[in-house]
Amino acid sequence: MKASGGTDEAKRRAAESAAQQVESGMVVGLGTGSTAAHAIRALGEAVASGTEIQGVPTSYQARALAREAGIPLVTLDDARPDIAIDGADQLQPDGTVIKGGGAAHTREKIVDTSAERCLIVADDTKSTDVLDHPVPVELLSDAVPTVERSIRALDGEPTLRTARRKDGPVVTDNGNLVLDCAFGAIEAPDALAGSLSAIPGVVEHGIFTDVADEIHVGSNDGVSIHSA
Ligand code: A5P
Repeated sequence: MKASGGTDEAKRRAAESAAQQVESGMVVGLGTGSTAAHAIRALGEAVASGTEIQGVPTSYQARALAREAGIPLVTLDDARPDIAIDGADQLQPDGTVIKGGGAAHTREKIVDTSAERCLIVADDTKSTDVLDHPVPVELLSDAVPTVERSIRALDGEPTLRTARRKDGPVVTDNGNLVLDCAFGAIEAPDALAGSLSAIPGVVEHGIFTDVADEIHVGSNDGVSIHSA
């Protein structure tokens, strides 16, 4: 699993705070990453104590963790999530976030936007006034040169994400590749999101605007919750 800057304690506090909002009978979107993993474990404990929920995983990792935690799983064919709990790589106060550090942002966006409410959970190192984290862009492998050109035309610098214990690029759960695209400070995330979506060959990018309903930010001392 990819590691991020914050402490595990801060991530756990944020995730457990969000998991407390899950009630028996709910369908829950299960996010990917080290922070969302804490929520999945907390929900597993709730299931063990009799809470009846069903999970919709956003990745192979989320599915495996949920199975291990004893959470019954369904797909979007079966049910619409009442709530989704998901992590973020960076977030700004209005709830706009950058996701995809674990290359799961395509399925995360599908599940998070289909949920009635989306709770973003993050440690306190992820908050910023203006987003400047490189934006993960999932794309078809044939489209790498043309998408790279389009990203540069948007004043971005694309880097093909490489695998750690495999030669060559990271291949997503969907069989695609990822470009991490540095744009510096992103003053207009909405506009950039639209431009990225319009590039032929792009499957999905990691800018999530108007998706989060509530943000849970954990620190070593506690959790702050605010509406987005
Ligand atoms: C997965 O692709 C991501 O969107 C994660 O939700 C995001 O990278 C946050 O991960 P951590 O909680 O591990 O920092």
